[in-house]
Amino acid sequence: MQATDSRVTIHMVASLDGFIARKDGSVDWLETSDEFADGETLTAESIAVFLETIDCYVMGSRTYETALGFEAKGFGWSYGEKPVFVLTTRELPRTRDSVEFYSGDLERFVNERLRPRFGSIWFVGGGVVSGECLRLGLADEVRYSIVPVAIGEGISFFGNLDRDVPLHLAEVKAYRNGMVDLRYELRLSRGERSTPKESLERRGSSGSTT
Ligand SMILES: NC(=O)c1ccc[n+]([C@@H]2O[C@H](COP(=O)([O-])OP(=O)(O)OC[C@H]3O[C@@H](n4cnc5c(N)ncnc54)[C@H](OP(=O)(O)O)[C@@H]3O)[C@@H](O)[C@H]2O)c1
Repeated sequence: MQATDSRVTIHMVASLDGFIARKDGSVDWLETSDEFADGETLTAESIAVFLETIDCYVMGSRTYETALGFEAKGFGWSYGEKPVFVLTTRELPRTRDSVEFYSGDLERFVNERLRPRFGSIWFVGGGVVSGECLRLGLADEVRYSIVPVAIGEGISFFGNLDRDVPLHLAEVKAYRNGMVDLRYELRLSRGERSTPKESLERRGSSGSTT
């Protein structure tokens, strides 16, 4: 497959106030009891068909540790047999053949190793890794699922973002359980980075870019 055929997606589920987990990493708030009568209904079958379109997953070590914790509690492994690339500088347990660890330059990893091999590449968290992916201009789209709850404080969807990133709203879907899916496309061409906040401030409020 040619690198140009590939698509990098960042996807996570967040509270209305933009958090992907509480400060202690817990995600108990993901289960809500809302009902939106006009919303679409998600079925196990429709989710399974959609998941088949994903070719590989990329995640940070803390997300991986959370996934291992869920599995240990009997909730299963969410990524099936698909390759899962875990970013880490540590030695972590490798519980299945589909998991590979990577440490280092994320840009080279995505552009030289993942894009030539996979069509649909999903970054599934957490905040540190999705922030890094967006900041480096590696993503083609962001899928942001909002759960109908505000939790006040927690881990942000995009950690350590030091610049404004312009997005184009491409799709909106609302579900019967009150969740809203927003799909944004990146307005910069792939690999192009937006202007860091400090240089915009130095140039004054007009925010012109070169
Ligand atoms: N709501 C959702 O949809 C959702 C989705 C995913 C995760 N989460 C939650 O988010 C939390 C974790 O997010 P987080 O922001 O704290 O952490 P994270 O993004 O999952 O992981 C960050 C870690 O990844 C490693 N890393 C990142 N870039 C690297 C690189 N280029 N090379 C090598 N290692 C790299 C580093 O770990 P090392 O120290 O190992 O080097 C870094 O500390 C968990 O609580 C999880 O439950 C929620």
